[in-house]
Amino acid sequence: MQRLKLIKHAKGAPGLRVFGLGPNLWPSKGLSKLKLLLDEHAFWASGRSEENLKKLLKGSNVVITVWRGNRIIGFGRATSDGIYRAVLWDIVVADDLQGLGLGKKVVEALLSRPCIKGVERIYLMTTNSSEFYKQFGFENCHHQSLLIKSNWS
Ligand SMILES: CC(C)(COP(=O)(O)OP(=O)(O)OC[C@H]1O[C@@H](n2cnc3c(N)ncnc32)[C@H](O)[C@@H]1OP(=O)(O)O)[C@@H](O)C(=O)NCCC(=O)NCCS
Repeated sequence: MQRLKLIKHAKGAPGLRVFGLGPNLWPSKGLSKLKLLLDEHAFWASGRSEENLKKLLKGSNVVITVWRGNRIIGFGRATSDGIYRAVLWDIVVADDLQGLGLGKKVVEALLSRPCIKGVERIYLMTTNSSEFYKQFGFENCHHQSLLIKSNWS
């Protein structure tokens, strides 16, 4: 198997966002690779344009990518106010490489960042992977409701 590399990007992932940088800061068409990963392996995030992915990265305090050679095979990001609340978003591993411990590494990398690990409470929303997150200390919430206002159809 080709070498795997996990990248902990700077806030807003400027190298990936502006220059498409991958492992070793090498120009790697990172945005189109990220789009491909989300299109093919994240049902809730498919069809996002590269322009909007740039905005998504810019608005993220923590961004993690996992590369296998020149391909992005894992992703996760988080937003945080740095003290009270943080939210994990868009955690995904390519189907053909699931079950190898990569998702765990992505979540651990997100949770270890200073602006995430120090906050009072961390949230995440998942459709069918809640059991996966329990190993990190997440619990189902029964005393609060998730409310959503959709601005786009
Ligand atoms: C959920 C996901 C990120 C997990 O990544 P992964 O690389 O397949 O998981 P890992 O190999 O790191 O699994 C680590 C451990 O969690 C367990 N695990 C993985 N997925 C699980 C699940 N859905 N339910 C329960 N346990 C799970 C594994 O068995 C493994 O246990 P072990 O350490 O005892 O062997 C990945 O399956 C995925 O991308 N799914 C599709 C997208 C998705 O639904 N993302 C979540 C959106 S919030």
